[in-house]
Amino acid sequence: MSRTRILSLPSIATSARLFSVSARIQANRAIVYSHNGQPADVVRALTIPNLTPPPPQTVNLRFVLSPINPADVNVIEGVYPSKPQPSSFPGVQGSVFVGGNEGLGEVTGVGEGVRSLKRGDWVVMKTSQLGTWRSAANVPEEQLLKVPRLEGLSEVNAATMMVNPATAYCLLSDFVALKRGHWVVQNGANSAVGQAVIQLARNAGLKTINFVRSRDDIDVLRQELQDLGATHVLTYDELDDKKAVKAKVKEWTNGQDILLGLNCVGGESTMAMAGLLGSNAHLVTYGAMAKRPVPIPASFYIFKNLTSHGFWLSRWYNENGERKIKLVEKLARIMASGKFKEPKHEIVTIEKEASEEQASSTISEVFRRIALGSLRKKVILNVKGDDK
Ligand SMILES: NC(=O)c1ccc[n+]([C@@H]2O[C@H](COP(=O)([O-])OP(=O)(O)OC[C@H]3O[C@@H](n4cnc5c(N)ncnc54)[C@H](OP(=O)(O)O)[C@@H]3O)[C@@H](O)[C@H]2O)c1
Repeated sequence: MSRTRILSLPSIATSARLFSVSARIQANRAIVYSHNGQPADVVRALTIPNLTPPPPQTVNLRFVLSPINPADVNVIEGVYPSKPQPSSFPGVQGSVFVGGNEGLGEVTGVGEGVRSLKRGDWVVMKTSQLGTWRSAANVPEEQLLKVPRLEGLSEVNAATMMVNPATAYCLLSDFVALKRGHWVVQNGANSAVGQAVIQLARNAGLKTINFVRSRDDIDVLRQELQDLGATHVLTYDELDDKKAVKAKVKEWTNGQDILLGLNCVGGESTMAMAGLLGSNAHLVTYGAMAKRPVPIPASFYIFKNLTSHGFWLSRWYNENGERKIKLVEKLARIMASGKFKEPKHEIVTIEKEASEEQASSTISEVFRRIALGSLRKKVILNVKGDDK
C-alpha cells in the first residue's frame, strides 16, 4: 500500500517561532504528523491560528472530545485504505496531516447560507478523515451531521458513537434477520465494538457468547461484560477445548443454531469460534487485531452453508447516506435512554497553556501506551485552544 509523505515541513521549533509569544495567547492546537510512521514517533502538537469568521456554507466548530481508534493508528502508519487530505495553516510553513476521524464538535459560528445548524448544536463528522484531533476547525456544513442534544446523552457517548456503536448496530442488523432469543457469538468482546454489540444485543432481546483474551483478573472482566448484558463470557483458552465448549454452547442455546458470528481478531481462535455456528450462519469479519488470516475449513462452507463476509463502516457510510442520518438519531436515542454505557475510557487533555514540546510529549506518551497494548480502554483527546 502506498505511503503518504509530505516534505518541507515546519519543525516543532520553527512553527513555535512562527507563532512566537502571541501563539500562546491566541491560538488553537492540532495533533498532526508530516509523514507516516509509528504514531509515538511521528505525531506532534502544532499551534495553529484562531479561526476567522466562517465563510458561506461553513461553520466554526470547537471539538469537545475526539477519540483515538485502532484505525487512526493504521492511518498514521500508512496502512489504512482511507487517506486524509493534507492541511495547511496561515503562518505555518508547509502542510501536515491532522489526525483523527471521529469526534464531537459544537458549533460556535455559522456562515451565511447554513440551514441545518446553529450555534450550540452538536455535530459529528459525515466525511471521513477530517482531522478531529484539534481544538477548533472551520468545516463545510455538508460534511457534518447534527446530533440531537438529548438529555442523558453524554459527551463521551456522542463523541464515540459514529465508529464503534455504529459498527455494532450494522453488524447486528445488516447480515441476518435476528429475532428476540436468538444467539450471537463474537470475539474481541471487551473492545469498544464488542461492548456495543453486547449492549445493543441485550436491548434487542438477543443473547451473546463473548470471547476475550485471558488475563490475571479475568473474573473482573467477565463480571464487567455481564453487567453490560453479556449472556456468557469465555476465554480463547477455553475455546481450545472444542468438545467441552461445544457441549456448553449446546446446553446454553438448547440446541438452537447460532446464526451470526462477529470477528475482529482473526487466527486459529476465530476458526474455533466459527465452529460454534449453526447451519446457514453468517460470519462477519470487521477487524484484524491479531494481524492473522481467518482460516475457515472448507467443510464449514460445504456442509453448514456458512457465508463469510467482510464489513467496513466507511463503505457502509458511502453507500447509505440517508440511513446514516437515521443511525445517528437512533444511537443518540438509545444512549440517552440510559441503556447504553460509555466505553471504558480515559480522557487525555492537551492544555492550551502547555508548550508545543510539552503537548507533543504528552501525545507521544499516549501512543507509546497504546502500542504496548496494555491500556485496555479507549483514549479520548480533549485538545484545548482559544476557540474552545
Ligand atoms: N470494519 C469496520 O468498519 C470497523 C469499525 C470499527 C472498528 N473496527 C475494528 O474493530 C476492532 C476493535 O476496535 P475497537 O475500537 O473496538 O478496539 P478497542 O476498544 O481498542 O479494543 C481492542 C480489542 O482488541 C483486542 N486485541 C488487541 N490485540 C489483540 C490480539 N493480538 N489478539 C486478540 N485480541 C487483541 C483487545 O483485547 P485485550 O483487552 O485482551 O487487549 C480488545 O478487545 C479493531 O480492529 C478496529 O479496527 C472496524
